[in-house]
Amino acid sequence: MRSKPQNSINLKPLTLLCCFFLFLLVLKLGSNFSSTLQNLQSKACESTAPCDKVPPSLARALVHYASTNITPQQTYQELQVTLRVLEQKSPCNFLVFGLGNDSLMWSMLNYGGRTVFLEESEAWMEEVKKHMPSMEAYHVAYDTKVTEAVQLLHLGKEHDCKDVKDPRSSKCHLAIKTFPNEVYNTEWDLIMVDAPTGFKAELPGRMTAIYTAGLMARNRNHGETDVFVHDIDRWVENKFSMAFLCEGYWREEVGKIRHFTIPSHKVGSERPFCP
Ligand SMILES: C[S@@+](CC[C@H](N)C(=O)[O-])C[C@H]1O[C@@H](n2cnc3c(N)ncnc32)[C@H](O)[C@@H]1O
Repeated sequence: MRSKPQNSINLKPLTLLCCFFLFLLVLKLGSNFSSTLQNLQSKACESTAPCDKVPPSLARALVHYASTNITPQQTYQELQVTLRVLEQKSPCNFLVFGLGNDSLMWSMLNYGGRTVFLEESEAWMEEVKKHMPSMEAYHVAYDTKVTEAVQLLHLGKEHDCKDVKDPRSSKCHLAIKTFPNEVYNTEWDLIMVDAPTGFKAELPGRMTAIYTAGLMARNRNHGETDVFVHDIDRWVENKFSMAFLCEGYWREEVGKIRHFTIPSHKVGSERPFCP
């Protein structure tokens, strides 16, 4: 009987090693495949509509805008500023000061997210809701007038106004405390300040709206809020946005729209009110 040659390679450990690597490869491919599948499924079928259909609410919005000659006030270029951010962040939490001809558009651009409107005129809100009943809108009151803007800008420099906290407990004269609680309890990803009205001296003006938007952005637990102010060609919108949303948080300006990105001040609690 011939004995095994002494110098032959022992294949048993090598085979075991190969099997182990093969096992690892199968595990990796399996996990990649299932996560890709999950991503595709969640992106394609977010709505209750069948995947290959335009969602009914979006279809109704298209027909609405195609059959009206009353269009939103912001220009095409101005709208691109917010659209670019919504393309990144939507579906998200979007707070809009003011109901208008753009409301349905904002809701649809944030499809699958939550878009909330704050409106000063009850009559106008009822009118809009007749045509767009699914809109989440709240009537809110403002206790200022455009004529008080210079004095309010001065008061905004007080120490209490630099204190970042929930607007309901702020001692700053500019903090609005009377919004529905869910406005304060939600972390807003985008805030559009396009109201209240401020085109005449006796109208409320956007002084407190701009300050409160900035305070809510700083007071969120984490992340950033994109804040947009429309009509920045006017004194109030220009001065108050630069003072309370801050030059250091300024991102972009197109036509009459100005865009700021404000980080949470709770994460970096040592942040100054303006960088
Ligand atoms: C500058 S407007 C906002 C307009 C909106 N961005 C648009 O594109 O239609 C601000 C406020 O004006 C008032 N408003 C706007 N359109 C109105 C209308 N057709 N009738 C009555 N009030 C209106 C509402 O009180 C609204 O909150």
